[in-house]
Amino acid sequence: MKNTIGNSLTVTLFGESHGKAIGAVIDGMPSGIAVDDEYIASQLTRRRPQDALSTPRQEKDEYTILSGVFEGKTTGTPICITIPNADTHSSDYGEMQYKMRPSHADFTANCRYNGFQDYRGGGHFSGRITAALVAAAACVMPALAKKGICVNTNILNIAGETQEEKWKEKILAAKADGDSVGGTLQTVVIGVPAGVGEPWFDTVEGMLSHAIFSVPAVKGIEFGLGFDFADKTGIEANDQMYVDSDTVKCYTNNNGGVLGGITNGMPIVFNAVIKPTPTIGKEQKTVDINTMQNTTLAARGRHDPCIVHRAAVVVESVTALVVADMLTQKFGTDWLAK
Ligand SMILES: Cc1cc2nc3c(=O)[nH]c(=O)nc-3n(C[C@H](O)[C@H](O)[C@H](O)COP(=O)(O)O)c2cc1C
Repeated sequence: MKNTIGNSLTVTLFGESHGKAIGAVIDGMPSGIAVDDEYIASQLTRRRPQDALSTPRQEKDEYTILSGVFEGKTTGTPICITIPNADTHSSDYGEMQYKMRPSHADFTANCRYNGFQDYRGGGHFSGRITAALVAAAACVMPALAKKGICVNTNILNIAGETQEEKWKEKILAAKADGDSVGGTLQTVVIGVPAGVGEPWFDTVEGMLSHAIFSVPAVKGIEFGLGFDFADKTGIEANDQMYVDSDTVKCYTNNNGGVLGGITNGMPIVFNAVIKPTPTIGKEQKTVDINTMQNTTLAARGRHDPCIVHRAAVVVESVTALVVADMLTQKFGTDWLAK
């Protein structure tokens, strides 16, 4: 299922950056869940480019729910959400039909789809498609919150800076230079009970990584201390345990809330690294796949000098979808509505 994620609660994505619309189909939602339009709109606003730190492409993200919701509540049948595309400057991409943008999906998509892919604006590989993911997750997240489960993704660093003022300076400097920067996002999920996860292959880390790597520009993920475990001894690394009333807890959470692929009741914590935006104004060496000649490309068009701040709500949304899927697999889809 190439464009579908989930087992019990599934989300299918469709659309291209400069096509008529993008969208998502959510299947497996139980009936009777209130759909909060204000919340969906506010999550979409978090993803939308809004200031000098992001692409000037303006999208209103006026979504339509075509099915699966009646009188403000889910009916239990597939929910189809569409978001029209606007403000597309497709002519900016003419040169890029054959000149491959280094580090973007132009070359790999061309190999995979034999040149039939819609290349405009990155087509199906554009960050634009993530708006549909955010809208889909926003239908599910209030139901999770009612169960005491909250997902939050925050910026850990951008261009090596942890302070907002400093990273904003670095983004603007990169933009002025026709360049881009990357950074790290930290996600914390609280409220997931101990005992969720299906080893060996559907571990919590595995399921989350599988989904998070679908987010364009994510190139790495680590749980808890992650790669810093390499420098620790056992006594430094182990999460020692204690009983708090009738609950088992840990004094530390170096394992990011997952052991043996199963939740231990501590917050699930992971970091995901977002690479610098591939499309940049600086001249780069590349290839023309029509002439099969070496060439150069200095991209025109409107691009994000940094994706990290916009990707936060996307990572948060994908995480919520995976968590909802794992929980409904364990407790049944109707559990989400109880
Ligand atoms: C919210 C969001 C916005 C993005 N905007 C751009 C953009 O303006 N220009 C660009 O080159 N890449 C952008 N990307 C990243 C590319 O889509 C991505 O790097 C490309 O598809 C290659 O995939 P990969 O980096 O995962 O290998 C964006 C990603 C996200 C999540």
